Amino acid sequence: MTDAGGGHAAQLSDPEHAETKAIIAAAFDNSADSYEQVGVEFFAPLGAELVRRAAPQPGEHVLDLGCGRGHCLFPAAEAVGSRGSVTGTDLSPRMVQLCAAEAARRGLAHVHVELGDASDPAFPAANFDLITAGMVMFFVPEPRKALPRVAALLRPGGRFAMSSFGPSDPKFDETMGILYRHRIGPPWEDNPDKPFTTHETITAMLADSGFVDIEITEMQHDIVFADLDGYWAWVGSHGGRIMIDQVRPEHLPAARADVYAMLSEHREPDGSLIHRSRAWFTTARRPPVTTHPGGKGTARVPA
Ligand SMILES: C[S@@+](CC[C@H](N)C(=O)[O-])C[C@H]1O[C@@H](n2cnc3c(N)ncnc32)[C@H](O)[C@@H]1O
Repeated sequence: MTDAGGGHAAQLSDPEHAETKAIIAAAFDNSADSYEQVGVEFFAPLGAELVRRAAPQPGEHVLDLGCGRGHCLFPAAEAVGSRGSVTGTDLSPRMVQLCAAEAARRGLAHVHVELGDASDPAFPAANFDLITAGMVMFFVPEPRKALPRVAALLRPGGRFAMSSFGPSDPKFDETMGILYRHRIGPPWEDNPDKPFTTHETITAMLADSGFVDIEITEMQHDIVFADLDGYWAWVGSHGGRIMIDQVRPEHLPAARADVYAMLSEHREPDGSLIHRSRAWFTTARRPPVTTHPGGKGTARVPA
């Protein structure tokens, strides 16, 4: 599954950063079967909330970038109904397979799922009323290049809704740090451009990408694990898998023991562990009209 993911990712429309994308695609291929299946509701409520804020209308045409197993896609599909359509794309072949199978199981003929790269989504300009991107744009190596391309896919006045994480729970950061220390390989190139870290930088990035009416809201979302095994399973069921997969199998028991030792100090009196997260929901729109360069009157933005 790993090689298939990497191979597919390298063949996608945007060849830049192919190696990074191959690592991400492979990790999500490896986590897809357990994604949101480990006993805590994490992405489902966040996806539902993003779609609620995006407010898809009956009959609208929606693109869902990085659809994963459909936690934004299926709420959007319900909202637009069979007169509308939802297209989901993802870098991970296994995610695409599982999401498409679920759409078929639900009998949703107006849902289509395919392999695709959010860095450069391959669709005609001005094709969608709404584009959603649930917890994915921060995986895109150069979001400042990708977002203007995303904007161009919206009809004039069309909406964009994306989610990202606010400051992480320190336990999660520490878990990632421990795994990083156990990995064998050259240090990761740290990209100093961190546009998702504050509301101001997110707003500026979207404004620079051609969006207007940019609004960011926050939702606190806590999940409780009965024990440390539950937390570990959860880390491996989503983007945390990228770091787990960087540790050689023979080093993993030691890495896991270090993570458990750290987590033990944060347990509640009943032995449970709480992960506290802050999700940020950003909504924006492509301008419906533009002022003529001469300053007289307005015109539709050309597609
Ligand atoms: C955290 S999951 C979110 C999935 C879904 N949107 C949700 O809310 O549950 C991130 C997803 O983005 C996908 N992904 C990562 N980089 C991507 C890219 N460049 N283009 C498309 N999908 C990507 C991953 O394969 C994964 O399915």
